[in-house]
Formats: sequence, C-alpha cells, structure tokens
Amino acid sequence: MSFKERVFSGVQPTGNLHLGNYLGAIKKFVALQDSYDCIYCVVDLHAITVPASVWGGPQELPRATREVTAAFLAAGIDPRKHIVFNQSQVAEHAELAWVFNCVARIGWLNRMTQFKEKAGKDRENASIGLYAYPTLMAADILAYRATHVPVGEDQKQHLELCRDIAQKFNSDFVDSIRAHGYGESFFPLTEPIIQGPATRVMSLRDGTKKMSKSDASDYSRINLTDDADAIAQKIRKAKTDPEPLPSEEAGLDPRPEADNLVGIYAALTDTSKAQVLAQFGGNQFSTFKAALVDLAVAKLGPIGGEMKRMVQDPVYIDGILGDGAARAQAIAAETMKAVKDILGFVRR
Ligand code: TRP
Repeated sequence: MSFKERVFSGVQPTGNLHLGNYLGAIKKFVALQDSYDCIYCVVDLHAITVPASVWGGPQELPRATREVTAAFLAAGIDPRKHIVFNQSQVAEHAELAWVFNCVARIGWLNRMTQFKEKAGKDRENASIGLYAYPTLMAADILAYRATHVPVGEDQKQHLELCRDIAQKFNSDFVDSIRAHGYGESFFPLTEPIIQGPATRVMSLRDGTKKMSKSDASDYSRINLTDDADAIAQKIRKAKTDPEPLPSEEAGLDPRPEADNLVGIYAALTDTSKAQVLAQFGGNQFSTFKAALVDLAVAKLGPIGGEMKRMVQDPVYIDGILGDGAARAQAIAAETMKAVKDILGFVRR
C-alpha cells in the first residue's frame, strides 16, 4: 500500500443538519475515503465561540454532537478505517491553538470576514474565542499535519490563514526545526480540496439565501432527518418561476430558485447541471419536481432513517467518538511533543 496523504475536516455540532450540510460537506468527506487517510472531527470547541443561546447550551450540545456523528456514519464514513471524534476530547487542539495565537498576528485576524459577519455591529461583545476561531481551526488541521482540507467557499480564507501560520512557524523557528532533525520545515502548507461543482445549497423559499438551520421557515430547508412525506412536501412547495426548465445552463441565469433545484438534482446524482438540463430542459417544474422528490427520498431517506436509529444508541456513538479520540490523540500528541521541543519548552 502506498503512503496516503491526510485529510482533516470539521463540522460544528449544530442542531438540525440539512441538505446543505450534506451536499456541501459530508457527502464530499465520504468520497475522499479511498484516496486519503481521513480525520473527521465534530468541532465542539468551535461551537462555543458564539453565545450559549446560539449553540444551544449544555442541554443541547451532547445531542448535537451525536447527531453530527450519526450523520457521518449514516452517510458512509468508516470510523474504523478513518478517524471520527469530537474535538474537546483531544486537548492538543486547544494547546496548539495557544501556540498559534502567539504566531498569528492581530492584523491577520482583523482581516477575517467571517468574524466581521458573525460579530456583527456589537464587536466589543464578541467572545475572544470567536476572534481566535481561525487559529483553533489551524491547530485542528496542523495537529495532524494534514496535507489536504475539503473546504467550502466560506472557509477558504481560514485555510489561507492556516498556511500563513504554518509558514511563519516554519520560518521563525527554522534553526530549531533543523536542529531537532525535522528538515527545513515542520508544518505542511495544507492545500484546499475543491471537489466537483461548488455545492452551495440555497433556501427552498429564496434562492438568493443559503439554506440555513436558523431560517424561521422549516420549508426553507430539507433536514437530514425529514421523512419521505416532509421531503416531498417541501420540494413540491419550493419556490420556482412559471417558465419551463431551460435546456442550457445560461438559461438558469437570473433564476436563482430554478438554479438551486437543478444544482441539488445534479449533486444528488453526481452529475452536472448541464447534464440535468440535457435531460429535463423544456419540462415544466411539476415534472422536474416529481423526479427530484423521488431522487431526494431515495438518497436521503436511508441516511435519515439510519441517523434516527443511531441517535437512539448514544452508547454506541460515544464508543465511536472515544475510540476515534484515542487514535487522534496518539497523532496529535506526537505533533505537540515536537512543537514543544522546537519552541524549547522543557518537558517530561
Ligand atoms: N470552520 C469550519 C466550518 O464552520 C469548521 C472547522 C473547524 C473546520 N475546524 C476545521 C473545517 C478544520 C476544516 C478544517 O465549517
């Protein structure tokens, strides 16, 4: 067997996973398992960067953590061949993040657009954790010296920051890195993996807004645990326009809702929008939606069913997380030892 490169990615434990989480992240994680050694993490330390009223508090967090884990497993991630765990069980994430807080510059973090969006107008009242979010994310990735991270558009800037941190660490401490026998650099410059067409799933009620768990209308999203009836109803009620489907992609241009439904169909069948339009161009939406309902129920029904079954068995899920955490920690602890030696920390 050849040496495989390593993938790391994380998903926040937020209640109500939806089609956007599945097509934008989890489905892509599944596809990477044959080509990489994969580490998939439920990032609970990241979850608490926003107020407890947003992340749900101590009553909600265990459920949300297990739900994301169940989604990973139900979607087809193999927790024995790869690693699935929750971040807070491996203390090295927080430990390495501290080191990176001392490598990253305030000016770099000030440029992070996600912080500006999430902090909103009341920036003085945002947590320091929200501000330092990207250094923790860099620690997640670099604790395993991961070479690749599948990322959506919204996380690209954070991955660039991760590379900047790796580069600055490598150059600030190059002499010590050499002296300890690590060659010319210690951390890799992690590459993004952008697979297939960008799958940004939009709200079923408004094709210009991202599908979101916080949208007031449940009709705006398909939850992974929705049953066949709910999936069918939501797709049938999804906003469209009166025109039939175009036969070329250009015909979707100023039609965000049509574009979104075609994109969902393409992602669920692993094809392109062009291929979907070659098949359905000229059809009315009623016909296309009926096909989309069948497809979505066939693809998502089994995943949702399996998730619901699994969350009934927290002992099983916690066993997977515990086993994954132990295997993850074995790797992260090696990295942390090396980092301590490179920095000159006296250790046992
Ligand atoms: N910030 C990512 C998100 O919100 C989650 C995340 C945390 C992550 N650590 C990561 C993603 C490391 C990739 C790699 O989607």
